[in-house]
Amino acid sequence: TGLITLDLGYKNTGATLSNITYLDGDLGELFYRGYPIEQIAEKSNFSEVMYLLLHGELPNATQFTQFENNIKNYNFVAEEMKKILDAFPRSAHPMGVLSTLTSALTAFNPRAVNVKSKEDLDHAAEMLIAKFAHLCAWTYRKTNGFPLNHGDNSLNYVENFYKMTFRKPYEEFEIDPVVVAALDKLLILHADHEQNCSTSTVRMVGSAHTGLFASISAGVSALWGPLHGGANQAVIEMLEMIEKDGGDVAKYVQKAKDKEDSFRLMGFGHRVYKNFDPRAKIIKKAADDILNKLGVHDKALDIAMQLERVALEDDYFVERKLYPNVDFYSGIIYRALGIPTEMFTVMFALGRLPGWISQWKEMRLHGDPIGRPRQVYQGAPKRDYVPMENR
Ligand code: CMC
Repeated sequence: TGLITLDLGYKNTGATLSNITYLDGDLGELFYRGYPIEQIAEKSNFSEVMYLLLHGELPNATQFTQFENNIKNYNFVAEEMKKILDAFPRSAHPMGVLSTLTSALTAFNPRAVNVKSKEDLDHAAEMLIAKFAHLCAWTYRKTNGFPLNHGDNSLNYVENFYKMTFRKPYEEFEIDPVVVAALDKLLILHADHEQNCSTSTVRMVGSAHTGLFASISAGVSALWGPLHGGANQAVIEMLEMIEKDGGDVAKYVQKAKDKEDSFRLMGFGHRVYKNFDPRAKIIKKAADDILNKLGVHDKALDIAMQLERVALEDDYFVERKLYPNVDFYSGIIYRALGIPTEMFTVMFALGRLPGWISQWKEMRLHGDPIGRPRQVYQGAPKRDYVPMENR
């Protein structure tokens, strides 16, 4: 009741208190639990970052081993889940499949839904972390018609995911440390980003005391959209289109400025970063390094760099403070690693999972009230019902 403030897209409204991620859009700063993203991306690994986000502190050696072992205890998915996967056509988008399978985990693990204590919550989190990696791997296997792999507990989390996803049935599998290091970095950079669209969705759904798996399934759906996580797929499709069209980047910068044209430069702009996206800086350098290490030359990287240069010299982009975001270069790395375009957003989801879970956990432990935004009504005024024969 009282005066309602209208804030479309929640551009200025804080909906929660949080201790997890700090972000300063003007300075281009991003900290996980106080640690600058540059240090974390350089020195840490994805499993450690998952622990940090979930528990608030970096683990000591014992805590880290315990955490890894807890996850390994759940390193399988119920066989019946394969039937659900089987029912999808091969052409189904992996994000739709992932969202469905994540929600279905609830039915196969009902005890994880009924969380009553912090310990229950941590178990549900570890279970989901283990099983979600399978689901991501399975969406890829499905698209390609490959048999499904199960987990291998002799490997760490990222290696295990990598093997489950890419092991071919007809050849020996070797872990490529360059690929694993690149995956680790990409997953870390996506691990949390405070109250973005998918995370807010997870918190909102969870605020009704909906279970963790169903809440995360909603987050996967939110992430799928091209204005959010789906941008990494859209960027590569855009770069391919520009390449096919002769590589005239200026033409596409012009199109993006044209208000009559719905085309936008994908991978450009951010709701919060108005100076630069610190993740994009790290990813741009990583893309260069990884392509060099793997000996890959990708025309898309040349086009991306030209596009960035032309756009950043253009008044339209300067005035609106539009810079490359995390997704502008990530797809180029995924492609160099042999990950197909339609899997890019699934990779983002795997990275964002610990952030979603940590935010969900924080929301439940803080006892946040159910989310329920207000509206400003602008429809028809009160009027009397008209029977059908009189309409
Ligand atoms: N190309 C051309 N113009 C743009 C772009 C773009 N990529 N992004 C924003 N603008 C313009 C927009 O038209 C508007 O112009 P005007 O003031 O003349 O109407 C102005 O810049 C402000 O844009 P907005 O849409 O009001 O900004 P927003 O905060 O609502 O949207 C955004 C942020 C990321 C959705 C948007 O910049 C966008 O659509 N970018 C392309 C998609 C993309 O790369 N998304 C990934 C985001 S980062 C990963 C993640 O965390 O999800």
